[in-house]
Amino acid sequence: MSKKALITGITGQDGSYLAEHLLSLGYDVHGIVRRVALEDATRHFTRIAHLLDRLQLHAASLESYPSIFHVISRHDFDECYHLAAQSFVAESFADGFSTMNTNINGTHYMLAALRELRPDCRFYFAGSSEMFGKVSEVPQRETTAFHPRSPYGISKVAGFQLTRNYREAYGMFCSNGILFNHEGARRGFEFVTRKITSTVARIKYNLANELRLGNLEAKRDWGHAADYVQAMYLMLQHDTPDDFVIATGETHSVREFCELAFAEVNLDYQDYVKVDERFYRPAEVELLVGDASKARRVLGWKPTRTFKDIVKEMVREDVAALKSNSG
Ligand code: GDD
Repeated sequence: MSKKALITGITGQDGSYLAEHLLSLGYDVHGIVRRVALEDATRHFTRIAHLLDRLQLHAASLESYPSIFHVISRHDFDECYHLAAQSFVAESFADGFSTMNTNINGTHYMLAALRELRPDCRFYFAGSSEMFGKVSEVPQRETTAFHPRSPYGISKVAGFQLTRNYREAYGMFCSNGILFNHEGARRGFEFVTRKITSTVARIKYNLANELRLGNLEAKRDWGHAADYVQAMYLMLQHDTPDDFVIATGETHSVREFCELAFAEVNLDYQDYVKVDERFYRPAEVELLVGDASKARRVLGWKPTRTFKDIVKEMVREDVAALKSNSG
């Protein structure tokens, strides 16, 4: 019989790649989505439109324990991937209360409902390198201390600790991924990589003439989301639940990303990029670079795409999308 997986955040970048991956392995894939998304499917399901006839979607809200309890009570899930969250760091400064509410309580509700109804279901929590924040060592690994710098980072530390506590207190199979930034052509437009590549495409087609950004010197360890969802899957196949850093081990600045992205369409980023204070954060995470040697050793996971591959793919896809739209 095929395994049954439940994905929260299935309409997002990672959810869509993970759903594809699990379907390719013969899983019966279920997703939790908001009621409003079901009502306006064409707008909300763009990343999973090609999978819709193979998925089972259930309406529920991370803010409502009864709605989550109801979905989990209906199916005998083997694995649960909890990816749903308010995931934009800048927004968490604008409305820290909603971010905390959704991210912390949502994770707690998932864990509590599983404990009550399906204690044998394996649970994955989408932890983040934002938990390291003001980093205490370079590169960051599983043992590096957390020092989050935003309400988002704080909410992820709480989710991480809840997940670990359910593992230790109730013996449940609960694993944390500590994923560094991961991108791809399905990335949301608010994140810096997609903001850059989509604007590069617009500039190329004379639909924009500048790109306004905040801190160009921030450094991130950027991998590809399609590689990273494989790590999530591997964590739940391992013999024992554990915590794993998932990263490429390379770091690049926002400036370098701009340089490569503009060069991809033969333009010089310096002619278009304007620094705009509005996009600075009240507290910044200056440098992230991860050491994923534990995931490599224990899970046999390693990234397959380089920084350059990712920038190229994202620019090409955004240029191609505009080309096909402009007929
Ligand atoms: N979004 C954005 N927009 N970021 C900008 C801009 C801008 O105009 N200008 C500079 N940046 C800088 C941010 O200050 C940050 O240092 C860096 O670009 C990356 O920002 P984001 O792409 O928004 O991602 P993030 O690093 O804050 O968070 C992402 O990665 C985390 C894992 O480390 C998100 O995907 C999180 O959900 C994830 O947990």
